[in-house]
Amino acid sequence: MPEETPARPAELALRPVTPALASYLAGSRLAGAGELAFSDGMPDTRLIPYAVLARAYRHAMVASVRHNQLGYGEPAGTPGLRKAIADMLRMERGLNVHPEQVCVVRGSQMGIYLAARLLAGPSSCVVFESLSYPPAREAFRSCGATVLSVAQDEHGLLPDALEALCRTYPVRAVYVTPHHQFPTTVMLPADRRLRLLALAEQYDFAIVEDDYDHEFHYLRSPVPPLASMDRNGRVLHIGSLSKVLAPGLRLGYVVAAERVVERCAAEILLIDRQGNQLTELAVGELMASGELHRHIRRALKIYQARRDFTAACLAERLGGRAQFDLPAGGIALWLRFAPWVDMERLVEDCAGQGLRISNGQIFTQDPEPVQALRLGFGHLTERELDSGIQRLAAALKRQEAG
Ligand SMILES: Cc1ncc(COP(=O)(O)O)c(C=O)c1O
Repeated sequence: MPEETPARPAELALRPVTPALASYLAGSRLAGAGELAFSDGMPDTRLIPYAVLARAYRHAMVASVRHNQLGYGEPAGTPGLRKAIADMLRMERGLNVHPEQVCVVRGSQMGIYLAARLLAGPSSCVVFESLSYPPAREAFRSCGATVLSVAQDEHGLLPDALEALCRTYPVRAVYVTPHHQFPTTVMLPADRRLRLLALAEQYDFAIVEDDYDHEFHYLRSPVPPLASMDRNGRVLHIGSLSKVLAPGLRLGYVVAAERVVERCAAEILLIDRQGNQLTELAVGELMASGELHRHIRRALKIYQARRDFTAACLAERLGGRAQFDLPAGGIALWLRFAPWVDMERLVEDCAGQGLRISNGQIFTQDPEPVQALRLGFGHLTERELDSGIQRLAAALKRQEAG
């Protein structure tokens, strides 16, 4: 009798991950031992003021015990942190908001997902720039939205192209990163911001403003967020403490009309009930005491020096093989390559040299080739940057030589 092979139990049927999300996930794997990764703009967690943070956590623990504060709390966040964020946005960013308009979330990614839950559904259309942040696009897509691409130029989103889309499709929301366009880093000019707000009014859509690294801007004159120009409650403004403090703390915020914040709180009840109160109390103290501000000023100087070092190093080592514009802010730059560069081969060749870079193609859902990559410089020291750029230059030279 032939032996019967036991039937394998059927695998659980799971909703598949979209190819765009899968390749983003693969690209954002942490660097292994001896490997360097140019990430797409990570902060340097070695700069975190650990002693100051530890003290704030200790205070938070003592206060929690004393005032019995570790029970179930407000899904929208602890009152102290909501107030500290509202104060900071009012004083430093020209946003006229009060604490009830602030919802604390676990990183801006959660804010984006909440925005998608509130705004998108099957048969809704949302618009992203042709080059944009893949997890944001996928968050909207996972809520059933059809994601449309709008053209952009060297200054960012093209309002005329957006208006053409609005005339054809029922656009519910537009996701933008106007402060430092992701991934190209450019700042959306004031006239386009005004036009975007006017179009939101005319075509009745919401604007999701992802202000993921507002603090790191190297120009003297501060540029307020788009939300500061919003008179009609069209903008859901999303900010993060990941870049200024630490991604691992998982803190961000959604700022919007009170009724939007109440809806966010209801969604939070379904996902994780509330945030980590210890972290919220500790970071609330760092904000109120000015410690966070001091850390940002220190980190800003370091990142500016790393940006300038990266620019000089790229110019010296790559010569004319790649172009970039010095970003006015942020912790990454957009490096553009000539059409003869085979981007996939470049990524593979660099990986062979222990350097991880991501093909700029991952930032779009459009078929046009993207001859560029986002080079994060903030998380690397000058030595590491130099070593990475040398490996990139060597890979490019090999390709040039055939
Ligand atoms: C454009 C953009 N939005 C959102 C995020 C998510 O950040 P977090 O959830 O850590 O605040 C990132 C992270 O790199 C980002 O680059």
